[in-house]
Amino acid sequence: MISIVEVVEDDIPRILEIEQEAISPPWTYGSFLSEILRTDAYFVVAVSDKLQITNHKSQMTRAGIGERKLCGVAHEGLDKLQITNHKSQITGAGISERKLCDTVHAGLDILGFMLLRLIGDEGELLQIAVARDSRRCGIADILMEALQRYALDNALKSVFLEVRKSNEAAIALYKKHGYEPVGLRKNYYTSPVEDAVIMANEL
Ligand SMILES: CC(C)(COP(=O)(O)OP(=O)(O)OC[C@H]1O[C@@H](n2cnc3c(N)ncnc32)[C@H](O)[C@@H]1OP(=O)(O)O)[C@@H](O)C(=O)NCCC(=O)NCCS
Repeated sequence: MISIVEVVEDDIPRILEIEQEAISPPWTYGSFLSEILRTDAYFVVAVSDKLQITNHKSQMTRAGIGERKLCGVAHEGLDKLQITNHKSQITGAGISERKLCDTVHAGLDILGFMLLRLIGDEGELLQIAVARDSRRCGIADILMEALQRYALDNALKSVFLEVRKSNEAAIALYKKHGYEPVGLRKNYYTSPVEDAVIMANEL
């Protein structure tokens, strides 16, 4: 199952990985961090709720972990790994490696992300991307549905975005979710130079 949750700073390295294989020109760590701190942004990741914990010698998987931010409370495993958060606790035996924090975090499995900026009663979709090996599985559909819910809950009148004219996958995605082309910005993008199609969804 996929959950949509708000981004925390620990997510940024994975977001940068996904973003670097997806969109040009790439954003920086600092630019994503500032979006987390803004109150006029809806910045979310799509995460698989299957928790995978791996180290060099062993691997275990537990399903059904609904809470995130496990990294900070992952106790170093001696002969036993214990991970706790506010609502759930799992214990697995046989993890002999220490310093599992990084791999626990990687196990949260961020598959995609989306960033919406609020401008009065309008929204601008600034970014949406899905990890290359998780595409065509409906992740972007789930992100776009979350965006629609957020827009309705916050009484937005419309959402608009720009997309490269050649980006057929994204244009098809947006059309599927009710966006229509409303204009063109000549040579809007660089590296490579390309026109942007402006699309909008009147709510
Ligand atoms: C565009 C992108 C976000 C789609 O993500 P995804 O998770 O693969 O999309 P989904 O599997 O949820 O597909 C949803 C819809 O998008 C469209 N779509 C997605 N990939 C497509 C492709 N390769 N070709 C044509 N349509 C495509 C389809 O309409 C699809 O609906 P369908 O499955 O009923 O046909 C993904 O390709 C991506 O990250 N691209 C790089 C980043 C990018 O271009 N972002 C947009 C910048 S404006």
